[in-house]
Amino acid sequence: MTLKFSQTLDQPESSASPCLVVGLFADAGLSEAAARLDRASSGAIKRLLDSGDVTAKLGNSTLLFALPGIKAERVLVVGLGDKSRFDAAAFNRAALEAGRAMKSLPVASAASWLTDLDVPERDGAWKLRTAALAADLHAYRYTATLKPKEKSKIAQLESLAFAGDGGERALAEAAAMSNGVRFARELGNLPPNICNPAYIAEQSKTIAASHDGVSCEILEREDMEKLGMGSLLGVARGSANPPRLVVLRWNGGGEAKPYALVGKGITFDSGGISLKPGAGMEEMKFDMCGAAGMLGTFLSAVELALPLNLVCIVAAVENMPDGNAYRPSDVLTSMSGQTIEVLNTDAEGRLILCDALTYAQKFEPQVIIDAATLTGACVVALGKHASGLMTQDDELAGELLAAGNQTLDRAWRLPLWDDYQSALDSAFADVANLGGKYGGAITAGCFLSRFTTGYRWAHLDIAGTAWNEGRKGLATGRPVPLLTQYLIDRCA
Ligand code: BES
Ligand code: MN
Ligand code: ZN
Repeated sequence: MTLKFSQTLDQPESSASPCLVVGLFADAGLSEAAARLDRASSGAIKRLLDSGDVTAKLGNSTLLFALPGIKAERVLVVGLGDKSRFDAAAFNRAALEAGRAMKSLPVASAASWLTDLDVPERDGAWKLRTAALAADLHAYRYTATLKPKEKSKIAQLESLAFAGDGGERALAEAAAMSNGVRFARELGNLPPNICNPAYIAEQSKTIAASHDGVSCEILEREDMEKLGMGSLLGVARGSANPPRLVVLRWNGGGEAKPYALVGKGITFDSGGISLKPGAGMEEMKFDMCGAAGMLGTFLSAVELALPLNLVCIVAAVENMPDGNAYRPSDVLTSMSGQTIEVLNTDAEGRLILCDALTYAQKFEPQVIIDAATLTGACVVALGKHASGLMTQDDELAGELLAAGNQTLDRAWRLPLWDDYQSALDSAFADVANLGGKYGGAITAGCFLSRFTTGYRWAHLDIAGTAWNEGRKGLATGRPVPLLTQYLIDRCA
């Protein structure tokens, strides 16, 4: 369950919440809410600031307990950095820090005045949504495969109120986005022996069963054989877990052409016969995060009952090496009719996506967007902060980049110029599944572009953004905020 979000018109000094959240600027001193608390407590906050017990550094926070003259037991003071430099990104960082700190407090509810702060170029709805989403990001816990903890008497954060009123729509959007993000994270975090293609299909059916107006169709291996999806099925051959193609539909927009969301759902990427090195291979359970992100986005859009039509297509396949596995130098025939020379079985994402992209065209979409943990090269190019955006459609690029900036789930565009296409030349097929030494994210995008000609299409490479690295790294739920915002914007 996501946090419950609400609003409050209380003043901080008289709020009965067990925990208040207020901000502090480094150069301009207390925020308005902090100043009220300071006055009510006869200058306690200023004294702690002067003594250095409290810091206004952005990304830091301090918990104050039992301040005199204040009803609430706890005040979480969040550093905002310099007011002169306070912007949307700084607000988000402060909101994330508040969420991180609240997670470890023994309170079931809290009330935040961060939404009272002025953020240049952002309105109240944005502040509410951003603060709510940030809190929920930290409130999420993965427990699915852990020994159940004995029910603790210590409270955990369940609800969060924000100063102000009239933000119902913003809070509904925050709740829907948080739900979509949580769905994507949970699916991403589950181990691949649980989250296999059949599991993804079951989860998709559950989405349909629990939401009016959603239909779900699952294609199995035989269905895909009939459709001629030789590329996707080539990847699937080495696995004992048969593939699934999920098709979810939402009809909120009458006769309008749908937006198609296509996700890479490699439930485990061993590399296949082009086996990956052992170190870090466990992270390849996250190779279905494109699928998870598209399902999460679909869920958010449906929960908001957005007035548009959606078709969400997820290719769920496991990439494994066995005696039946596809091999380097195999030539596969895709559903589009184009033949593909396999030069590396570890470049499998594009091979399942190309057939899913061709299949998407059956629904006459007005726009096709895919999300995929497609290339390590994208992580080299952009690091872990920006998703790679590739499209030949400048208008679509602008809309997606704007949605990313709005939600701070940001993307950065890489070129898809024709100059790169020749890297995919093959003597044995229409196209090779591997480019040259350089620009691997782009040549992967170029490969996909050959299966979307004539359509408005964009590709998001989320290899760097879909999960946090390391032993304890969790799925992030990206790009659910970006794509949900993109769809919300289309309804405006
Ligand atoms: N799923 C990987 C991409 C990936 C690698 C994502 C590391 C996140 C972290 C993808 O299927 C893959 O293996 N790509 C290869 C492509 C190469 C063989 C052209 C890669 O990036 O090395
Ligand atoms: Mn791979
Ligand atoms: Zn992969």
